Amino acid sequence: MKLSSYFPLSSLSSALLIGTAISQSASVLDLSTAKWTLSSPQNESIKVSGSVPSQSHLDLYAAGVIPDPYYGLGDFDLRWVTYLNWTYEADLSGLDTSNGLSTWLLFNGLDTFTSISLCGQHVASTNNQFRQYYFDVSSILSSCSSSPSLSINFGSSVNITADIANEPGQEKWPFAVEGLFEFPNRQFMRKEQSDFGWDWGPAFAPAGIWQPAYVVQLPSSSIYVRNTLLDIYREGQLNNLPPDQSAPWIVNASLDILGTVPSTASMSIEIMDIDNTTVASGSLENILISDSTITGSVTVDGETCQLWWPNGLGAQNLYYFKITVTDGEQILASVTKRSGFRTIVLNMTPISSAQLAQGIAPGNNWHFEINGHEFYAKGSNFIPPDAFWPRVTETKMRQLFESVVDGNQNMLRVWASGAYSPDFLYDIADEMGILLWSEFEFGDALYPVNEEFLENVREEANYNVRRVNHHPSLALWAGGNELENLELPEAEYYDPGNDKWRQEYEQLFLDVLLPSVYGNTKSISYIPSSTTNGYLVLNFSLPIPMIERYNNATPGSIYGDTDHYDYVSSVAFNLSSYPVGRFANEFGFHSMPSLQTWQQAVDPDELYFNSSTIVLRNHHYPAGGTFTDNYRNSSLGMGEMTVAVDQYYPAPNHADSLQNFSAWCHTTQIFQADFYRSQITYYRRGSGFRERQLGSLYWQLEDIWQAPTWAGIEYDGRWKVLHYVAKDIYQPVIIASYWNYTTGDLTAYVTSDLWTGASGTASLEWYGYDGSSLAPKVDIPFTVGALNTTMVYEVNTNYIPYNLTNAFLKMNITTAGTPVNTNDTQVYKHEYYFHALDLSQVKLQDPGLVLSYDEGSGNFTVEATTGVAAWVWLDIPAGTLANFDSNAFWLSPSDGKKEIGVTVKNDTSAGKWVEGVTVSSLWNNTLA
Ligand SMILES: *[C@@H]1O[C@H](CO)[C@@H](O)[C@H](O)[C@H]1NC(C)=O
Ligand SMILES: *[C@@H]1O[C@H](CO)[C@@H](O)[C@H](O)[C@H]1NC(C)=O
Ligand SMILES: *[C@@H]1O[C@H](CO)[C@@H](O)[C@H](O)[C@H]1NC(C)=O
Ligand SMILES: *[C@@H]1O[C@H](CO)[C@@H](O)[C@H](O)[C@H]1NC(C)=O
Ligand SMILES: *[C@@H]1O[C@H](CO)[C@@H](O)[C@H](O)[C@H]1NC(C)=O
Ligand SMILES: *[C@@H]1O[C@H](CO)[C@@H](O)[C@H](O)[C@H]1NC(C)=O
Repeated sequence: MKLSSYFPLSSLSSALLIGTAISQSASVLDLSTAKWTLSSPQNESIKVSGSVPSQSHLDLYAAGVIPDPYYGLGDFDLRWVTYLNWTYEADLSGLDTSNGLSTWLLFNGLDTFTSISLCGQHVASTNNQFRQYYFDVSSILSSCSSSPSLSINFGSSVNITADIANEPGQEKWPFAVEGLFEFPNRQFMRKEQSDFGWDWGPAFAPAGIWQPAYVVQLPSSSIYVRNTLLDIYREGQLNNLPPDQSAPWIVNASLDILGTVPSTASMSIEIMDIDNTTVASGSLENILISDSTITGSVTVDGETCQLWWPNGLGAQNLYYFKITVTDGEQILASVTKRSGFRTIVLNMTPISSAQLAQGIAPGNNWHFEINGHEFYAKGSNFIPPDAFWPRVTETKMRQLFESVVDGNQNMLRVWASGAYSPDFLYDIADEMGILLWSEFEFGDALYPVNEEFLENVREEANYNVRRVNHHPSLALWAGGNELENLELPEAEYYDPGNDKWRQEYEQLFLDVLLPSVYGNTKSISYIPSSTTNGYLVLNFSLPIPMIERYNNATPGSIYGDTDHYDYVSSVAFNLSSYPVGRFANEFGFHSMPSLQTWQQAVDPDELYFNSSTIVLRNHHYPAGGTFTDNYRNSSLGMGEMTVAVDQYYPAPNHADSLQNFSAWCHTTQIFQADFYRSQITYYRRGSGFRERQLGSLYWQLEDIWQAPTWAGIEYDGRWKVLHYVAKDIYQPVIIASYWNYTTGDLTAYVTSDLWTGASGTASLEWYGYDGSSLAPKVDIPFTVGALNTTMVYEVNTNYIPYNLTNAFLKMNITTAGTPVNTNDTQVYKHEYYFHALDLSQVKLQDPGLVLSYDEGSGNFTVEATTGVAAWVWLDIPAGTLANFDSNAFWLSPSDGKKEIGVTVKNDTSAGKWVEGVTVSSLWNNTLA
């Protein structure tokens, strides 16, 4: 039937909370309301109150037993916490133990190795942080002799993984296959891999009930919904393939149940718009009932619903889907999920002859399509926003995602070795239009393939695929991080010719994870590895429909996505060193956080560039280290940043040591941003080149703590130079220069990711650093195609009448274009400066920057009165979270006053912060 008409709703319209499931007379005890204690079986002197959701470090910190784990060298000094077992205990004497009720313990997340007991009796042991666990404890409870108490003993994950690694017959991989940071053996656990350390984060390996937990009590014949799958796709759609956009929608709902679903049960659906006006309702068909799941589907006429679009490409239309399970007249359960209508496909089909005729290189596509349209994916990589997930608040994540939207990003890759994101994060992404390329939690290692491990993974994958599938922001499932481009080549290098490693890789990432995606959803594409050359074969009549291409490549053809790191900063701006592919899914370089951020975590006497605390918080270790249980030497990363600053900028040498430290931190950020800009412009220009490059997601969006990392946003939300520069270069229509400094060839291109052609004028003018014009401005009219690029200028710097030590080229464009999915015309402006690579060699002079603040408009203005200012920076004092409309720009005297708006996200200074804003530029580095 077609769900396009209105049905009488009287029996179904009971008010329900979003995302909750209430079955008739089920009673649910939220275990966050119980009184918990935390103790260690190995250290009887510690007994503090505990909480849920939480982790032992957080509860010990709250009780004053340990200092702030993020302060100083807590990462190393608190290892004793990690080496102990921790027991969370709650008195459940309020529970109804009367006969006839079936009682379940329901855990949405236990981190990680536990032994659970109730009334002193063993209930179960668990070993997977990412699974939902549920246990029928009715018989234990009914035989409970005293008042019931629940006890969960968390083992030390560091010790337990070491024990597993030492089991006889356990897998051992070739040297260097395991990416090792602090604690070894992470591949043996189903726990956040970065809990054992990463090159941007600490290793606390916390333990605790990290997600909500409940006691659910059911009278006989009632049920409780513990997880809901909602899959919305176009009729006939198959994973990884572009569907027919004129086909009707199918809504498939599948509820995972505690209790038993009667074989006579039926399901109905009501679809409401965001104001709760019903747009369609009726019964679900094709009902399938197993003991613990009930599934049904319905066809929905596409005319009744508006599409959901990502940020910048249209509106984020959302609907409520209320699914009700009934048996005869009785409502057994009802659940409401917010979702949307969209298709999102990772298109990896072969390049067609029509595409070849457009000048696209042969090979395969590798790009995303939203609602049938190619688009340019602009964004970054999201890592765990905290080493302790229970303290990640919705407020903080909203602020972060506002920065993502402000930064002109439309996609984040949710990196594979943290934790599956909580629903509230996907909810925020649904509202803001941020696509989340999501990954299973495997990365930079190969993993065991014994049946017990694979079964554990299967449960974890099914739970999470079903849990988050209703979010329209979900863009993709990838098996893991850097597997085909890094781990398999590593295994081949150290164990040449041994096919075992690839077979084992396929056992996990194709035979287990792919069916978990394809078996639960038709709306989401799957790739086994974040970086991949895609498939050789996709054939749905095969038992496993996907056969990977690996290096089975034809020369001259282009296939997959790229991952690029090069820490030799001398080649940072050599365009030939960047990969040519269809999509750039990670690339980057680290920088220091600001002084304000360092001050949150480091003693004042350690606030200098190579202090031991700062060096030890840099976890960018040499490759292939060995675990010694000592502080690892991380001077490598510090050295790389220093070399880059020395090569490209006047190195700060201020007499005041704090000022000098701050300037050094800031200059490392300038190099980072400059390097990313060079790559992003290169990748974006590729949209009109033979590689038809359609995405760049830089490494990494945000920080997990206060440290030197690849992030563009610091731990408390403060923007580094990078986030401003990315915001600038992710605008829809940009101009940028491309310089081959070997040959002197300099070109400028206008690149657009609008979906229709645009036209405008590029104005180019050579200036001296004193701000004087060296030649009349040249105006060049241009047109640029949809998702394309066009060259507007070409010269050879060996034959220009200027010396780059005292001349630079300023480029501006004004473009008339039509924003995607609108009929309006809009003017797009963008500015770009081409200058000598080494700014310590150019003739910088005092730009005479003048900053003012206008209370009326709430805007700042800045003016360069006496010379050209490179990398102007407005700095916000500690304590206020705010960002400017633009920052980290160049300013010439001829620009006059530049007005800059500001977005304040959190201010504890009652507005006083504006008085503490300072302005500087690279010129300041030259001052003593
Ligand atoms: C874990 O291992 C450490 C180091 O070998 C040891 O000191 C500690 O007692 C062990 N913890 C447990 C719970 O066995
Ligand atoms: C530590 O925890 C693990 C996992 O729950 C358990 O197997 C082990 O017996 C515990 N050890 C102690 C001393 O409590
Ligand atoms: C729609 O209903 C949900 C509960 O199902 C409620 O949370 C939400 O506020 C309602 N929205 C409006 C606009 O009334
Ligand atoms: C980009 O524009 C060029 C020049 O107009 C054109 O030849 C080319 O086919 C376009 N590429 C695509 C993919 O549309
Ligand atoms: C720069 O020029 C050199 C020498 O001709 C050439 O090999 C290289 O490919 C060029 N690089 C780019 C990015 O065009
Ligand atoms: C540019 O000027 C610098 C500094 O005055 C000088 O060292 C260099 O040789 C000049 N380059 C050219 C190509 O004239």
